[in-house]
Amino acid sequence: MDKKFESYLRFVWAGISKQVQTGAIIPSQKFLVDKMIAPIPASYRGTIVELGAGTGALTIRLARRCPEAKIVACEINPELARDLRQNLRRAGINGEVEVVSEPAEKLLPRLRSKAAEKPKYIVSGIPLGNVPRKNTLALIEQIKRSLADDGMYIQFQYSLLDRAKIRAAFPRLRTAHVLLNFPPAFIYFASKGGHSTTVRPPARASRPGSLRR
Ligand SMILES: C[S@@+](CC[C@H](N)C(=O)[O-])C[C@H]1O[C@@H](n2cnc3c(N)ncnc32)[C@H](O)[C@@H]1O
Repeated sequence: MDKKFESYLRFVWAGISKQVQTGAIIPSQKFLVDKMIAPIPASYRGTIVELGAGTGALTIRLARRCPEAKIVACEINPELARDLRQNLRRAGINGEVEVVSEPAEKLLPRLRSKAAEKPKYIVSGIPLGNVPRKNTLALIEQIKRSLADDGMYIQFQYSLLDRAKIRAAFPRLRTAHVLLNFPPAFIYFASKGGHSTTVRPPARASRPGSLRR
C-alpha cells in the first residue's frame, strides 16, 4: 500500500481510537490549510510553532510556503509524529522542520526558557473543545505568553465553542468560516494588540453571531 495512504489511514484510526485527543476523523484539507497560513509572509525567517500537527497536512504546505522559516511542529501522538517525520521526508522537507512528540503544554514553557526570540506565529489544530475548560484556558494563556507581542495565534475549530475564551486573551480577533473543508471549520486569527494581560475566563459562553469584530 502507498505509504502516504497508510499514514492517512493511521490518522483515521487515531480519530476513532483516540477521538478526544485527535478531534478529527480525517486530516485538514488544502483550502482550510491555505487560509490558515495565508497571513504568514512567504519571506518570514523567524520561528513558527505548530501545535497539533497530526500527519503534516498543514506542516508541509507551511514549509513550502516559508522556506526560510524555522518550523517547530508539535504532535502529542507518537505514531502520528512518526508519520509526520516520514511525510516531511517524502515531501523533500528535511532541515527546516523540527518535529517534537510531546504535549504543547510541555513544549511552550521549554521554548520560552531557551529561545532568544519569541515566535511571531503559533498555528494550532489542537481540539480545544475536547479539553476541560480550565485546561483550554491554561493552554491559551501559554500560547499568549509564548507569542511575540506583534505576533499572531492562528487556530482552527469545527465550532465556535472557544471563541470567547480566545477573545478574552487576545483583544484583536478575526474569525473566518471555511466551508470548503470536511467538516467545515472556523479559523481564529488572534493578535495580542500590543499589550499583555492575563487570560480571564469569559463571563458567558460564546454565541454564534457576527464573525468579525
Ligand atoms: C484536529 S487534529 C489536526 C491535525 C492536523 N493539524 C490537521 O489539520 O490535519 C489535532 C491534532 O492535535 C494533536 N493534539 C491533541 N492534543 C495535543 C496537545 N496537547 N499537544 C500536542 N498535540 C496535540 C492530536 O493528536 C491531533 O493530531
